[in-house]
Amino acid sequence: MAEGALQTSNNSKHSKLGNSHSTPSFPMSHGPGKIGVLTIHSHMVFLVLDHTQPNPLFRAPIGPSPKKILDIGTGQGSWAIDVADYFPNATVHGVDIFPPPALWMPPNCVFEVDDVLREWTWRESFDFIHMRLMYGAFTDEGWEQVYKQAYDALEPGGWIEQMELDVRVYSDDGSLKPEHMLHGWGNIFVGCSERAGRSLRTHEKMRSAIEKAGFVDVHEENYKIPLGPWPKDKQLKEAGHLQYAHWNAALEGWAMWLLTHYGAPEPWTKEEVQVYLAKVRTELKDPHIHAYEPATRVWARKPTEEEANANRTTIKLEPSP
Ligand SMILES: C[S@@+](CC[C@H](N)C(=O)[O-])C[C@H]1O[C@@H](n2cnc3c(N)ncnc32)[C@H](O)[C@@H]1O
Repeated sequence: MAEGALQTSNNSKHSKLGNSHSTPSFPMSHGPGKIGVLTIHSHMVFLVLDHTQPNPLFRAPIGPSPKKILDIGTGQGSWAIDVADYFPNATVHGVDIFPPPALWMPPNCVFEVDDVLREWTWRESFDFIHMRLMYGAFTDEGWEQVYKQAYDALEPGGWIEQMELDVRVYSDDGSLKPEHMLHGWGNIFVGCSERAGRSLRTHEKMRSAIEKAGFVDVHEENYKIPLGPWPKDKQLKEAGHLQYAHWNAALEGWAMWLLTHYGAPEPWTKEEVQVYLAKVRTELKDPHIHAYEPATRVWARKPTEEEANANRTTIKLEPSP
């Protein structure tokens, strides 16, 4: 089988990288190296969580024969590769500001290095646009722009889907107590992200932003991702194992940059971050703490032409004030 392709601005008229609007670094959502590679753990966590679904990769009812699919911020490219395997007759585009480290990809999978905050210049429309773990990637205005561009780039009746994590950690049985470092962990990072101007509360904001962009038929599903292998349920235990491995490996990458740049009341020193992380690591290993991270999936549809026309007619028929 021939290999898929890695292109710089494949369908774009020109490369849009490296100019003044390029996205600055933000560790939750970027990473050509370690953090990008680590998203494979998250990919597996989501597959395990949705193992009872006919298709654990997405929920949007896109039908059996989509032609063009786009994965924004594809990272490692795991989702795009799996979807390309699932729909061999579709072309799946994975776009990211960093080239994916994937060594092999199916022939119908195209990776493109590009910045989605730029004007999109793909010539054909998509049937489905997907995003996952893009929390903190854009400012609120950036998100508005991305949803608008996604709306414009979809076929009428096409679907958008987004899956995001809440970085805050909870327990339902009171085993995570206010004195635990993990209890305040998420709020510390949310605070850093707000000061950096790129909120990590993407999971809370995305539904209304998607609606505001004009999408209809909006659906939402909420998940609890165990942090560690504490659940009794076999699948959740596996998800917890994977999520623990992800945290353990990614922790320092997330925390060091954010806390030394945007920590409060003033940026933390490296040593302060290391002491903090040592305590967090100890709690992560504690089987008595039944912690989990919430995640939210939203999927919605661009109106069909009939719906858009009906909407236009209704607006016209409204009496003037
Ligand atoms: C946390 S990773 C998620 C990767 C993948 N979606 C997944 O679920 O495994 C977020 C990705 O968004 C990419 N990204 C951030 N800003 C971007 C932009 N302006 N244009 C394209 N990709 C961007 C980052 O480079 C990073 O690979």
